Formats: sequence, structure tokens, C-alpha cells
Amino acid sequence: MSKSIKKIGVMTSGGDSPGMNAAIRAVVRTCAFHKVDCIGIYRGYQGLIEGDFKEMNARSVNNIVNKGGTILKSARSQEFRTVEGRKKAHSNAMEAGLDALVVIGGDGSFTGAMIFSQEFDFPVMGIPGTIDNDIYGTSSTLGYDTALNTVVEAIDKIRDTASSHNRLFFVEVMGRDVGHIALNAGVGAGAEEILIPEENLGKDRLLESLKRSRESGKTSSIVVVAEGDTTGENVFDLKDYVEQNLPEYEVRVSVLGHMQRGGSPSCWDRVLASRMGVKAVESLLDGKSNYMVGIQDSKITLCPIDQAVKGKTDIDLELLRVSDIMTT
Ligand code: F6P
Repeated sequence: MSKSIKKIGVMTSGGDSPGMNAAIRAVVRTCAFHKVDCIGIYRGYQGLIEGDFKEMNARSVNNIVNKGGTILKSARSQEFRTVEGRKKAHSNAMEAGLDALVVIGGDGSFTGAMIFSQEFDFPVMGIPGTIDNDIYGTSSTLGYDTALNTVVEAIDKIRDTASSHNRLFFVEVMGRDVGHIALNAGVGAGAEEILIPEENLGKDRLLESLKRSRESGKTSSIVVVAEGDTTGENVFDLKDYVEQNLPEYEVRVSVLGHMQRGGSPSCWDRVLASRMGVKAVESLLDGKSNYMVGIQDSKITLCPIDQAVKGKTDIDLELLRVSDIMTT
């Protein structure tokens, strides 16, 4: 293993997600294992610009594998979008003796890493950390599995009260402009309808489906709505539309919001984070740069970072069909 890399910086950037701490822990401990120094960078690129650094060692990451959030904090940095901001960041990295950077975040964070690497010929490695699971080059992003379980648990609770009051609930979930959380958690929670941005079948088909549910004897329903869905203006517009057209329905809305970003990471996310952290550091030590660590068919892989930022993830059409059948 080439040792031209002597000191690695690690940061978390963009929306936080469960598993980020497990990934930080894996990066720090893999550095320690290979006797490479590691510097924690607070608040993503903004911390790099401000020189907000902390020396890390194997003990610095005790007892965090099970913690949601990120001990290095996260942020979105407008200043890093400027050449001056990136020059400040690079100068701080040089002053701190950094030889490479591991960025744990989403596609926006990887775009910044790619530009920074190109401008300063600086080695970078990305680890996909976002609950949205919307990054090309990996079948799972850190936090996605935990978010699915959080959403399913929340919907199970909503279903208790929906069935007690014979109500229809619209439950809005995160995912930015993709429907992975809505589709998978919707199937998992047995939702009667799932609305995702990848397909818009219109409000009237929704009414038809709700009518069919009622005629089949269902006295309460759950409709999971991805926040990027375009069937209605928003989830409250859908509520109004159903109340106007199906007055027999008593309708409520529950927007799950940022609780989907929290919580102790699932075992899957902890193991994935550990595997990705090791791969990221050892790839840098092998002289590789400008990749995103991913997982494909259970194997840890490297995807060129320019593909990860440009590619998009598709909805699983087979699961879409399962969802349709389950709503019979
Ligand atoms: O990208 C993760 C995510 O939670 C999205 O699902 C959501 O749309 C967005 O972040 C919310 O961003 P913020 O935390 O800035 O409100």
C-alpha cells in the first residue's frame, strides 16, 4: 500500500443522515490502523474555509457507531461555491498538512469535492451519506435504511389512529425529488396509495383508487406522498381535493419532516458505513482519487465521482408493480 498519503481530512457535508458517525469512525480508525494521521473538519466545506479542525485518533470516535447525526456537524457552504472560498479552503488544507480528503455527503457535496480536486490536484474520496438514496453508483446511501424503518414505524402509529377514527391520512415523507423513501416505506407499511415524483397518475385516479378501497370495505386509508410528488400542489392541496370530492372521507395530514433524518443507525447502515470508510481510506492510500465508494450487489465498489454527480437513480419498476398489486 503506497504511503504517499500521510494525513487525511474527513468531513460531513449536506443534509445529515444516520450512519455518518459510523462512517467517520471507520475513516478515523482505518487511518489509525495504517498509521496515517486524521483531521476532523467541522461543518463541511465551511469549516474547511474557516480552518475549523480537530485532530482525531482511534479514541476520538468511541461510542459513536450507534449515534445519529454527525459529531463533525454538517452545513451547506455558499462560500465554497466561489473560487476565493475554495482557495481559502485549500490554503488551510495545506497549512494543516492534509494530503487527501474524505467527504461524507450527497451529490452536491461530491460536486464540490470534484471541483476542489480538479482545481488543486487534491485527492478526494466520497462516501454517500443521505437518506434520499438518490446517488448514482450505489444501491444504498448511508441513512436510507434507517430512514425507511423510521418512516414505517411512524406510519404504523398513524395507522392505529386512522383505523380508530375511520380516517384517511396523507403522510408526507422526505426524499427531495425522488420517491425511494415513499415507495419502499409505503410498501413496507401497507399504504393504500403511494404518490411519487417518478409517476403522476393524476388526482382523479387517486379518487378512483380511494373509492375502490372504500367499496372493498376499507374504512381507513394511508396515502404516502413523497415531498417531490406533483399530483397536487402539495399534500394539503390533495387533502382539500379529496374532502371536496369524497365528502364521506374525514381526512388528515401528517408531515413527518426532519425526524426522518435522526435516530440511531440500523445495523445495515452501521455495517455499510464501516465497509465504506475502510474502502475510502485504503483507496486513497492506494493512490486512487476522485471516486465515490458505493455498494452494488453486496460488493463495495468505486464509482468515478463525475459519474456519481451526473448520474441519476431509477425507481424500481418491479416494486412499483408490487405496490399496485398490494393496494388491491
Ligand atoms: O437530502 C436530505 C433531505 O432530508 C431531503 O430529503 C430534504 O428534501 C432536504 O434534505 C431538507 O433539507 P434541509 O435539511 O436543508 O431542510
